[in-house]
Amino acid sequence: MRVLSGIQPTGRPHWGNYFGAIRQYIDLQNEDESYYFIANLHALTTVRDPALLSAYTLDAAIDLVALGLDPQRATLFVQSDVPEVSELCWLLLTGTPMGLLERCHAYKDKKAKGLTADAGLFSYPVLMAADILAYDADIVPVGDDQLQHIEVCRDLAGSFNHQFGQVFVMPKAKILDASAKVPGTDGEKMSKSYNNTLEIFEDPKAQRKKIMRITTDSRPMEEPKEPEGDHLFQLYSLVALDEEREAMAAVYRRGGFGYGEVKKALADAAERFFADARARRQVLAAEPDRIREILADGAVRARKKAGQVLARAKKACGLTY
Ligand code: TRP
Repeated sequence: MRVLSGIQPTGRPHWGNYFGAIRQYIDLQNEDESYYFIANLHALTTVRDPALLSAYTLDAAIDLVALGLDPQRATLFVQSDVPEVSELCWLLLTGTPMGLLERCHAYKDKKAKGLTADAGLFSYPVLMAADILAYDADIVPVGDDQLQHIEVCRDLAGSFNHQFGQVFVMPKAKILDASAKVPGTDGEKMSKSYNNTLEIFEDPKAQRKKIMRITTDSRPMEEPKEPEGDHLFQLYSLVALDEEREAMAAVYRRGGFGYGEVKKALADAAERFFADARARRQVLAAEPDRIREILADGAVRARKKAGQVLARAKKACGLTY
């Protein structure tokens, strides 16, 4: 089994990114082969500040390694370091019906808002298909918002194979566990655009302050409460030990507790949960050349694989002579 996924470099990762995606990628690194890349070419469709894109890219790699992605097991690289993918993208573009891309949500939503889209955003799903097909990926772990893109990829692979012979491996999406959706500090889904995030690597003191300001409901604290639907409890559950979670659930059901106590416990558990990753991140951030080496090594391995697949595709459609 070959696992592959791309991660857009979009700034500081938050708990939603970690529990909803990154942790699950890291769990999959023990499959036969796994490829993870920083999707900087895709990010270029939205991040138009060169210094920012460059910094986000290196940061994303540091974050992943600090959080446990092991570059010995998984191939970790930057998307633009593998030019074979962009070439493969062109091969696929030539057979992509306009209508297929017109139905894709990123483009459609932008159009619906009356904004003008560029050809990069329009062909975004084709580049993503090239990403996946270039490495003969079997399994692509993604959030459910990316399912449509995987369908496009399967469509394109199918019609290329139909026209030119069996070139591409048909990939399957592995939808990330949606129950891992993380509430934000206001109880809504945690998202950068809602400004309700808890960042993984923020200073523990600043994070504690944020946690103490988490909105809670106005029920009197004497009242017993079901812990399950409570966002403070949900957040606590993510970072607490099993026995701590059980004990906290019992306190909720018994009643007579204060949210302030829960928040303190949450801040303590959070600090402990991410302590190792934070320490590793500090070390890595001080040695950016080590990360660059890891990425360069990943790119060599990725290009080797992508080069083989591209050669197969070029031959099949008559680009060799
Ligand atoms: N579009 C994906 C996202 O925004 C990132 C991505 C780019 C990707 N290429 C990919 C994911 C290939 C999986 C496979 O999340």
